[in-house]
Amino acid sequence: MEATSSRSCSYEEYKETADWLLNHTKHRPKVAIICGSGLGGLADLLENKTVFPYKDIPRFPTSTVPGHEGSLVFGKLHGHECVCMKGRFHFYEGYNINTVTYPVRVFFLLGVETLIVTNAAGGLNGSYNVGDIMLIKDHINMPGFAGQNPLCGHNDERFGVRFPCMSDAYDRGLRELAKGSAKEQGCDQFLQEGVYCMLAGPSYETIAECRLLKTLGADAVGMSTVPEVLVARHCGLRVLGLSLITNKVVTDYDSGEKANHEEVLRTTELRTQDLQKLVSNIITKL
Ligand SMILES: *[C@@H]1O[C@H](CO)[C@@H](O)[C@H](O)[C@H]1NC(C)=O
Ligand SMILES: *[C@@H]1O[C@H](CO)[C@@H](O)[C@H](O)[C@H]1NC(C)=O
Ligand SMILES: *[C@@H]1O[C@H](CO)[C@@H](O)[C@H](O)[C@H]1NC(C)=O
Repeated sequence: MEATSSRSCSYEEYKETADWLLNHTKHRPKVAIICGSGLGGLADLLENKTVFPYKDIPRFPTSTVPGHEGSLVFGKLHGHECVCMKGRFHFYEGYNINTVTYPVRVFFLLGVETLIVTNAAGGLNGSYNVGDIMLIKDHINMPGFAGQNPLCGHNDERFGVRFPCMSDAYDRGLRELAKGSAKEQGCDQFLQEGVYCMLAGPSYETIAECRLLKTLGADAVGMSTVPEVLVARHCGLRVLGLSLITNKVVTDYDSGEKANHEEVLRTTELRTQDLQKLVSNIITKL
């Protein structure tokens, strides 16, 4: 698929991708997982895997970022059929917003009912520490304010309604389940719950922007997740979102600190086991 194509896709196109996958695997996943930066290890936990490199899947977009391998992994996690996106598509890579969310509608057509999204995010809330895991309770869609919403354009009722509700985007029951799982596994002391704000990126935020986002009520900021969640909610999937706080954003002009991608990847590596275990425990309880 052309990265910059501005055309939205038809039901038949999504269907062709879904049918091809259903023809090529016996797995019938009810849970889909989108792995964030450095969190692709979740896919390795699956048993009896069937792996499809994105480039082999008809009409599927392909991934360009280092550290974001591109494959769709089907398999079982504690007996639960899952499909895992190892490598996601970011708006900042130059993809059209419909391309970013293409896999979510494919998941819906595969029969998926629950979407779990993970990402790496910068902490805005002063009480957050690097390495905390934040359950997303709500989001602020900055690209949406600027007209970049994947639901713009013709609405196909086979996916969902024209004006979908977003006040319940992040499923309360799943969040409670996540809190219970975190407690059991002893990682509740670094579990937070807050508001995720999406910016388009790829540049990190300025100090003035960080201060603005804090004022607006955002607890963490990142460059993904929101488009996928909008499309998932539109077609009725339940959503659980988890942000790994990989750095604290700079809000002080006297601070010499600078945001950098290497720090993000390092922290991700440290906490990745805990996050993977948490997601896997949550899935066990679905
Ligand atoms: C899936 O398999 C069916 C039955 O074999 C076939 O008719 C159909 O064309 C296949 N679809 C795709 C997209 O591969
Ligand atoms: C994995 O596949 C093997 C052989 O096909 C089968 O015996 C086993 O039960 C499968 N395991 C799971 C967890 O489905
Ligand atoms: C920051 O996080 C804490 C702990 O989760 C929370 O109580 C608080 O409301 C959040 N927001 C602000 C602005 O401190």
